[in-house]
Amino acid sequence: MIILHLLFCFSLLQSGLAKCVVDDNHSLYNEHKMYHIEGKKEGMDKFMNFLLKNHEIPYHSKTEKGCHMLVAPHLVPIVEDFAKNEGLSTKVVINDYSELIRLEKNNERRKDGFSWTAYYDVDDIHKYLQNMSSQHSEMAQVVVGGQSYEGRQILGLRINTPSDVDKPIMFIESGIHAREWITPATTTYFINELLTSTDPEIVSLRNQFDWHIFPTVNPDGYHYTFTRDRLWRKTRSRSPNGCYGADPNRNWDYNWLNYSSSDNPCDYQVYAGSKPFSEIETRTLSEYISGLENMLGYISFHSDAQTLLLPYSDSVEHVDNYDDLKQIGETSLKYGYAVNQAKYDGPGTAAEILYKASGGSVDWVRNTQGTPLVYVYELRGRYFHWPARRIHEQGDEVTQMMVGLVYEAKNLGYF
Ligand SMILES: *[C@@H]1O[C@H](CO)[C@@H](O)[C@H](O)[C@H]1NC(C)=O
Ligand SMILES: *[C@@H]1O[C@H](CO)[C@@H](O)[C@H](O)[C@H]1NC(C)=O
Ligand SMILES: *[C@@H]1O[C@H](CO)[C@@H](O)[C@H](O)[C@H]1NC(C)=O
Repeated sequence: MIILHLLFCFSLLQSGLAKCVVDDNHSLYNEHKMYHIEGKKEGMDKFMNFLLKNHEIPYHSKTEKGCHMLVAPHLVPIVEDFAKNEGLSTKVVINDYSELIRLEKNNERRKDGFSWTAYYDVDDIHKYLQNMSSQHSEMAQVVVGGQSYEGRQILGLRINTPSDVDKPIMFIESGIHAREWITPATTTYFINELLTSTDPEIVSLRNQFDWHIFPTVNPDGYHYTFTRDRLWRKTRSRSPNGCYGADPNRNWDYNWLNYSSSDNPCDYQVYAGSKPFSEIETRTLSEYISGLENMLGYISFHSDAQTLLLPYSDSVEHVDNYDDLKQIGETSLKYGYAVNQAKYDGPGTAAEILYKASGGSVDWVRNTQGTPLVYVYELRGRYFHWPARRIHEQGDEVTQMMVGLVYEAKNLGYF
């Protein structure tokens, strides 16, 4: 196995693609350092272009304040030298990323039952949804939002208490980026709140809407983060050149490939797919969404920029109800803040607070469905790690954010 693996890396190197994720039982990320790098724009651009073009960087994220980058041990001298030559400052913020993964592996993953003090693989999440639909059959049913490349279903829970009138739909999508583990955990926590809470505000939240909630819409990718590579983000489809996966949040048919997207199937983070909706996950989920009438809200959970984002993600122009979205978003954040005093950035467009990105689900939803209330909540964490014993903190925070969102939306006459 190991020899085969080395040969594989070697042949890639020979072919000029210096792309070999150090992966012995799966990108363990031994001694990988998380860097924060900042400096003048010109130098930063040169630095990023050079590294991303020539080396495998399993994680990078760039904002106006600088960039974070996960650096394999053999690349440390290259990064340090290049940064020095460009006059950039470097700081190591995590000395060995593998320690975070080891900690999770040893203490934070579980297989039996279900709870919010551990992380679970996709089958266990699906079992939980099935169980909830039988425990609460009067209001909950499992729904199939789509399919995955490896033949899994994209399962969700529809929570719709009996009523004489059609209720507005609230849609929640999470886990589109496989490594953002806190999002499925928070989403199932929220499901549990909706189903079991006796708090009048949450009961009202449950009763007022027809909820369609999908904790893990990239099930293959998520499973892969459990079994192989903790930092995997994309789907697991196979490109003709042998590379795997496309970024399912760059693959929707709206301004596809325009910003923060790559057309290189080997791009570890943002390969946008061979065409819009090339990925079965986004294609089938978009069909499910198109079949819904009366969708009032579409909410997508990501991590971990701790920010609330408004559409569109690839433009600084404001949508017609931007002021309402901002006001509703502010109330939502205020409710969330009251729980743990955790301050989020925003609300604002991604283009204004983070960076422009095209081909995301929310932009497509807003553009094709005209859904009035569209938000991306970037939850908290530290490079995709969040202690499992503290899932409830973000669960309660998000639950209150939803209460605040609905409160202000009602105030403004949205339903
Ligand atoms: C990789 O992990 C799996 C499951 O934990 C184990 O069965 C297998 O032996 C490991 N392979 C190597 C090469 O370490
Ligand atoms: C189903 O949910 C109930 C109520 O939360 C729980 O007591 C039970 O153990 C669950 N069953 C399975 C098979 O997970
Ligand atoms: C795509 O990006 C370019 C700049 O990179 C911009 O000029 C163009 O307007 C964008 N197209 C759309 C449809 O947003």
